Amino acid sequence: MEAISDQHLLPRQDFAAAWDAIKIDQMVRTRLVAQALLSFQLRQRYAFEVMPVHGLIVLSGPPGTGKTTLARGLANEVAQALAPKKVQFLQVDPHALGSSSHGKSQKEVTKLFQQTIPEFAAAHPVIVLLDEVEALAADRQRMSLEANPIDAHRATDAALAGIDLLSRTHRNTLLIATTNFPKAVDRALLSRADWIEDMGLPDATARQAIIADALEQLAKEWPRVADLKSQIAAFVRASDGMDGRRLRKAIVSAAASTIETAKDLNKLHAEHVLATLKLAAANARIEEKAA
Ligand SMILES: Nc1ncnc2c1ncn2[C@@H]1O[C@H](COP(=O)(O)OP(=O)(O)OP(=O)(O)O)[C@@H](O)[C@H]1O
Ligand SMILES: [Mg+2]
Repeated sequence: MEAISDQHLLPRQDFAAAWDAIKIDQMVRTRLVAQALLSFQLRQRYAFEVMPVHGLIVLSGPPGTGKTTLARGLANEVAQALAPKKVQFLQVDPHALGSSSHGKSQKEVTKLFQQTIPEFAAAHPVIVLLDEVEALAADRQRMSLEANPIDAHRATDAALAGIDLLSRTHRNTLLIATTNFPKAVDRALLSRADWIEDMGLPDATARQAIIADALEQLAKEWPRVADLKSQIAAFVRASDGMDGRRLRKAIVSAAASTIETAKDLNKLHAEHVLATLKLAAANARIEEKAA
């Protein structure tokens, strides 16, 4: 089905790497894994009417804060905990669910929740990543100005009905939704979440870990890059306000400060990194203000 953009049996090594790549407070990691395992456990034992756990976790936060990557890593952590059982991972691309006109996306959303996911759930526990869920369950209150408000309305209705049905009848499924635009997500979806994790921009500790990781990766090919780690405190200060994606890109872009450094990253100096970080952080602040 075209709405499923990625599917794998977990655990897998590349998904484990995704979990390690995102630098975030250990308490958040523990909370997410524990919440997911608790949800599986409770939902196996109780009927929905007794224990209204939907099996829905939402990761919300600005673009580039690692939500999609962490969600995939979380699925793998859960799979490891459920071993030797294998877990079926499905990633849904809501943008592929057809246009909202003529009820097309409504039909496809219904099929996804009532047919596609249940078929997988017959064989394995299933973890579904609903990436950019604002496209799947758009806020009905904001729709009055849209081209096809009634069709879009129906698509959101279908998503909510589908999640409800899945919650009741397929107790071995877990949904992980991400959004960088929570205001555009229908409130009825957010209210079904068992846990909403608000992932803000990385703090100084997280930025330090991201920068160290980025430098270590480059040092594998250009050993002198490792010397830059002595300047890490200054890099952390200069990168305040940047998301993790930008920060990783800025460290790499520092090597594009001159032709020489681009050709040989061993020639990269702390000044190149600092200047690039300052530029990128200033751009991030300007965009933040404009948004
Ligand atoms: N906290 C972080 N620690 C380390 N790397 C990070 C962090 N946040 C983001 N990154 C880097 O940014 C990349 C992009 O992250 P990802 O696509 O998961 O973000 P996202 O929150 O889903 O963004 P969007 O809202 O734009 O979809 C990651 O692969 C990772 O390299
Ligand atoms: Mg994402």
